[in-house]
Amino acid sequence: MKLAPFKKGSADPDDEAAQAADLTHGARHVAIIMDGNGRWAQKKHLPRALGHKKGVEAVRNIVRSAGEIGLEVLTLYAFSSENWNRPADEVSDLMGLLRQYIQADIDEFDDNGIRLKVIGNYHALDKDIVALIDNALDRTAKNDRMTLAIALNYGARDEMLRAVQAIAGKVKQGAVDPDNITADHLSDALDTAELPPLDLLIRTSGELRLSNFLLWQAAYSELYFTDTLWPDFDKRELQRALQSFGDRDRRFGGR
Ligand code: IPE
Ligand code: IPE
Ligand code: MG
Repeated sequence: MKLAPFKKGSADPDDEAAQAADLTHGARHVAIIMDGNGRWAQKKHLPRALGHKKGVEAVRNIVRSAGEIGLEVLTLYAFSSENWNRPADEVSDLMGLLRQYIQADIDEFDDNGIRLKVIGNYHALDKDIVALIDNALDRTAKNDRMTLAIALNYGARDEMLRAVQAIAGKVKQGAVDPDNITADHLSDALDTAELPPLDLLIRTSGELRLSNFLLWQAAYSELYFTDTLWPDFDKRELQRALQSFGDRDRRFGGR
């Protein structure tokens, strides 16, 4: 499916009509904790696996919507470093869906100028999935309409630990002086290094926690919680979240 035409760049801040038409409401980078697949299935007396399957359809729909709205980056929490603690059959269902999703949607990413990025230690996934991901990363590397960052085997504490280890390695080599380590050094060593700052973090399903997602990056992000279960989250809901973002006064500690 081809996305609707899209004008790159945010609206001119002095042009009111252009501002009104800016569906992003000034947000460049939105991340979503996609939660509630299991409860969606339970409510319908269906197996959890069907909730996850429906969740993939919601992903497809939201990726298209984010492209049409004109977001620069959409980051989706798909599998956490703690999700390995789920029953083996559920982990295997999730990995199966991931495999299918990448295979089925890679052409659409390419047709629509979507660059794929993965955050998290995805090299710990099954070899064939790692190969699929590496191929998709390669194939879409030059696309520049939107970046879709998928968090796989992602945990913010693990990400920060890996970043600290990388910096410590440079200190050991004598390439970095510990007294000169700045916040930017740490930001640059995270998986999200080249992404713009996180503007809006959405969590579905009514849970009010971050569950080890983007802990560093979310320092000054706006938070949006909805009771909607992930399989029911759609473009209208995304637009509602962006509208709420646009109505807020971000102060970053100033006044
Ligand atoms: C989110 O839905 C999907 C993943 C964490 C992979 P859940 O599976 O967590 O659904 P609930 O929270 O049990 O309803
Ligand atoms: C967060 O959801 C992880 C993902 C959406 C991938 P969880 O369902 O795993 O989080 P908790 O266990 O409710 O905190
Ligand atoms: Mg959950």
